[in-house]
Amino acid sequence: MSKPKVFVTRVIPDKGLDLVKDFCNVDLWEGELPPSRDELMQRVRGVDGLLCLLTDKVDGEVMDAAGEQLKVISNFAVGYDKIDVSAATARKLPVGNTPDVLTDSTADFAFTLMMSAGRRILEGDRYVREGKWRTWGPMLLLGIEMKGATLGLVGFGRIGKAMARRAVGFEMRVIYYDPNETKSDPDIKANRVDFETLLEESDFISLHTPLTPDTRHLIDSEALSKMKSSAVLVNTSRGAVVDMDALYEALKSKRIFAAGLDVTEPEPLPVDHPLLMLDNIIIVPHIASASKTARDKMSWLAAKNLIAGLKGDHLPHCVNPRVYR
Ligand code: DGY
Repeated sequence: MSKPKVFVTRVIPDKGLDLVKDFCNVDLWEGELPPSRDELMQRVRGVDGLLCLLTDKVDGEVMDAAGEQLKVISNFAVGYDKIDVSAATARKLPVGNTPDVLTDSTADFAFTLMMSAGRRILEGDRYVREGKWRTWGPMLLLGIEMKGATLGLVGFGRIGKAMARRAVGFEMRVIYYDPNETKSDPDIKANRVDFETLLEESDFISLHTPLTPDTRHLIDSEALSKMKSSAVLVNTSRGAVVDMDALYEALKSKRIFAAGLDVTEPEPLPVDHPLLMLDNIIIVPHIASASKTARDKMSWLAAKNLIAGLKGDHLPHCVNPRVYR
């Protein structure tokens, strides 16, 4: 019997790729950059499965270009805002994602950004490299301390909760805003508040919400204007949750103290973007989940989702279980 045909839109860690290669006839996109729209439309033609990345826009048009034999879309990421899930559901196509396995890596990284931005690590490093370090100074590069500070979490899913657990060790007070929370977790010490209270009371604000029409530009100039002038904002969710122009104004005018961005709008951020001219921001290229452990597990899970879909089994992690009803 011939193997199912799949398109994998980028080289992923061996753990999952080897599994996919064992089971499928793989067309692997080896480019450093993602396939263009045209290339994606062409390469999906006739495939039984698609393993895609968060850089690939997969909408109804792509699904139709693939054809009626397409059985599954497996997303190598937990966030699936680039996939038109309703279009997939309408076509009875299960969509898989990779939750859980990147929770700790992402929470570690959000803490790294909070501390690096709050304690001005990059400014300090530049200061040394530029030969400005002449003596120890009582007022040199003062930052924001964690102990006793209030951590405000926007989104209290897996990663938000992992942040709250880490905050215990730093003796922080934790508050969160999550309109979608259905039941609270008594094991985690954190208080639910409304959005305005979170903005006003937090010393550190960390974003852990999916990008939806409701969360697009949730952090806009109005939200920024309610934050403390000593606040540090960190985003490891999706770039468009923050209005980048408003953030620029808030940082430039010192309306807030600092920011750390793992994600931006757009990605990649053009090198001449105004935010990159500011000292009180750290920007890294969407690497919060980029620990070797997490990426290996994401690869494995994306492969498992793909293969389950090809076999007609339920996906280990399916974002649209309605397809099974
Ligand atoms: C995800 O999985 O959605 C992350 O953004 C990848 O880092």
